[in-house]
Amino acid sequence: MKVVVIGAQWGDEGKGQIVDYLANEAQIIVRYAGGANAGHTIVTGGEEYALHLIPSGIFYPDKIVILGAGMVIDPVALFSELKMLQDRGIDTTGRVFISDRAHIVLPRYIQIDKDRDAARKKPIGTTGRGIGITYSMKSDRDGIRMADLTWREKMDELEKGDREFLAPYIDRLLSMSIDLSLYLVHRKNSQVLFEGAQGALLDLDLGTYPYVSSGMSCAAGAAVGGCVGPRAIDKVLGVFKAYSTRVGNGPLPSEFDPGSEDELCRFVRDTGREYGVTTGRPRRCGYLDLVSLRYACLTNSIDSLVMTHLDVYDTLDEIKACVSYRIGDRIVENFPASIADLNAAKPVLRSFPGWKKSLASALTYEEFPEAAMEYIEFIERFCETPIDIVSVGYDRKATIIRKSPWTR
Ligand code: IMO
Ligand code: MG
Repeated sequence: MKVVVIGAQWGDEGKGQIVDYLANEAQIIVRYAGGANAGHTIVTGGEEYALHLIPSGIFYPDKIVILGAGMVIDPVALFSELKMLQDRGIDTTGRVFISDRAHIVLPRYIQIDKDRDAARKKPIGTTGRGIGITYSMKSDRDGIRMADLTWREKMDELEKGDREFLAPYIDRLLSMSIDLSLYLVHRKNSQVLFEGAQGALLDLDLGTYPYVSSGMSCAAGAAVGGCVGPRAIDKVLGVFKAYSTRVGNGPLPSEFDPGSEDELCRFVRDTGREYGVTTGRPRRCGYLDLVSLRYACLTNSIDSLVMTHLDVYDTLDEIKACVSYRIGDRIVENFPASIADLNAAKPVLRSFPGWKKSLASALTYEEFPEAAMEYIEFIERFCETPIDIVSVGYDRKATIIRKSPWTR
């Protein structure tokens, strides 16, 4: 069976933690989009790890992890991450592979990324990892793929600085290179987990363009970036937080109002540890935006939702979620493409009673307080999508499964 895990918001939904949990029942984990712009926090064995490039299944000693064709790979970041894992006792030898179609990030792309964003009138607030530049080199057909490292003419064409940069990495990169399509065909009966990075609303086509990342972080990207056809995918899981966050610029219609809701914003940010794993930037925070979540469900064929960070709301008297937007004198129920509309949108909020109780002790969904169930079940009805998994903490034990994702 092939299951895709995507972020259903603007990234940082807790995908890494969920993939780590679900990887227990998979043999192969394929990351399919983005690069070192991602930051996935995983807590396991009492240790906390931050991953940027390596798929989150790496903490199980017997799993194969693969960096897919849709990814852009910075060799410096890759080998420093592998070294960090080895130094901390995670043996990665012989089980990390890279698609021969994946593109390589060069140091000068990183510099161009930073310079270009700084020169923008309204910066996107990129992570400065050279991601957008690598993808635009790719679409310009000037990129360098893993497979090109053995293509003599191509290597000779490169600028001297690029060749010198790549030289010490070539053998190590090639030792990890595979034909991902064939690799998966030969393992037809394996359980494969496709791990997304970024999120539905940061997808180049479906997200809040131009305030997006440049990869295909949507569910369809799992097929392209994972070198399989769309019909090979059996199930799509969408991970979302009980509230909204965003790093960098761009619309966040349900953002807590600066001024009147500063206290709520600080509370959510600190309780949810909403600081970027890659850049350390404080994340912008807001109410759960059901308009955009429903849009993510529709545009990604999300079969079931995974809700994370619900415990952040444990102590609140009242919880609110955004159910439509007020744009001028219009009420808008569907997620607009227009950035002008999204910037002008004011959230229309629905209120729910808080449960005022720690969710940490619940081992099953049935043990949740009624008010928490009410919030969850409203979201299910609104998005017409079941919430099959709820996470109430960082530990693997804090993941409550209502329906196994490995069933159709
Ligand atoms: P994970 O996988 C949150 C955001 C950046 C910026 C925009 C473009 O941890 O969920 P880029 O460097 O990709 O060109 O930046 O996208 N961004 C993310 N935000 N989580 C991520 O990944 C992100 N990856 C990129 O902050 O606004
Ligand atoms: Mg992250």
